[in-house]
Amino acid sequence: MKACFIGLGYIGLPTAIIAADSGVEIVGVDVNPKVVEKVNNAELHIVEPGLDKLLKKEVGAGKLRATSTPEPANAFFVVVPTPFKGDHEPDVSYVESATRSVIPVLKEGDLFVIESTSPVGTTEAMAEIIFAERPELKGKIHIAYCPERVLPGNIIYELVHNDRVIGGLDEASTEHAKSFYGRFVKGELFATNSRTAEMCKLTENSSRDVQIAFANELSLICDKVGINVWELIKLANRHPRVNILRPGAGVGGHCIAVDPYFIVSAYPEEAKMIAQARATNNYKSEWCSEKVINAILKFELANGRKPVVALMGLAFKPDIDDLRESPAMHIAEAVAAAGTGADLRVVEPNITSHHRFELSDMNEAFDAADIVVMLTAHTPFKSLPQDVDGKTVLDFCGVFQN
Ligand SMILES: NC(=O)c1ccc[n+]([C@@H]2O[C@H](COP(=O)([O-])OP(=O)(O)OC[C@H]3O[C@@H](n4cnc5c(N)ncnc54)[C@H](O)[C@@H]3O)[C@@H](O)[C@H]2O)c1
Repeated sequence: MKACFIGLGYIGLPTAIIAADSGVEIVGVDVNPKVVEKVNNAELHIVEPGLDKLLKKEVGAGKLRATSTPEPANAFFVVVPTPFKGDHEPDVSYVESATRSVIPVLKEGDLFVIESTSPVGTTEAMAEIIFAERPELKGKIHIAYCPERVLPGNIIYELVHNDRVIGGLDEASTEHAKSFYGRFVKGELFATNSRTAEMCKLTENSSRDVQIAFANELSLICDKVGINVWELIKLANRHPRVNILRPGAGVGGHCIAVDPYFIVSAYPEEAKMIAQARATNNYKSEWCSEKVINAILKFELANGRKPVVALMGLAFKPDIDDLRESPAMHIAEAVAAAGTGADLRVVEPNITSHHRFELSDMNEAFDAADIVVMLTAHTPFKSLPQDVDGKTVLDFCGVFQN
């Protein structure tokens, strides 16, 4: 069994490595030559605990190698980005280009799977593109959609133990894809059609977005009323059928902050609540920026000098290096752009440098700061002293809350 993974990023590379570990010969394909070079040198280009050891093992054993163009295999997996473009419309051009790149090497009996989060109907659209160029393969290859739901930071465990939804264009495709994933997935494999599988992924992330929006909305109300939102949620969650999530500085990342738009842009009349959740979570970041800017102005009025402000965290969630669509990043940029003259110290322990901000050491920034702003609940931040005389602490993500 030989499989070709198109796209060796946060999801494609770990999946390729785990599949290689299950005994499949893996060829990883990426358009970025640096990624290809690093993988072939058994060097990890993403941050994921435990993955470097496995990468070294599979590359060393000759079970995984990388290249820039697809080659003949028994199975192909498309794991390329699906960002949005224009007015939050899904950009499937990467999926299309990855699909087109495998068309010349496809042969009878092959399996073609899309893992990239995609708008409903994408798998059917890619099948049409394949068959337009290779009509002789119609009914002779298996095509399916299988979304990924792993949590960065816990990918090795979740890739194996999470349940998966697999939707083929026909039953034979679904079964074929199930048997591939069955090689390394210990979770249950649920069969459906491709449209349901596509919508399932979008639904999961929209559901998270709506629930976080509820928590963020509560945080805005509580701030006005003078109630500690963290205590409120903890108490409300003692109800046996209530489970409110934690508020934060907004919602970010490549999935939850993006995928709901794939539903909203296709069904704007119906997806009112999903659209409002996006708006609420985006607004929360604006609100946090305003809070920081106001705290800076207040400090200057009271003390007659500009404050030192520690902006703690740039990643979109705790303990990762991923800054994509990060509300923390957005807030740091908004505060910097406000031109308050405050001395901003930006802390992000999971990256070594940043093109926009000079990064500061966590303890040095904290000690120097008049205003401490918790933007991401990174674990190391929890060890900082909670009550320090003379410091204003804006804890947007509950670092100091249990
Ligand atoms: N990151 C996550 O936590 C997560 C979770 C679930 C689902 N997803 C989905 O998985 C998909 C991949 O996400 P990711 O985070 O791995 O993206 P990524 O940006 O980390 O990696 C994508 C890789 O694909 C490569 N690429 C782009 N176009 C290509 C092409 N035509 N041929 C070959 N390589 C190409 C890029 O160079 C890059 O290395 C997306 O649809 C995303 O929404 C991501």
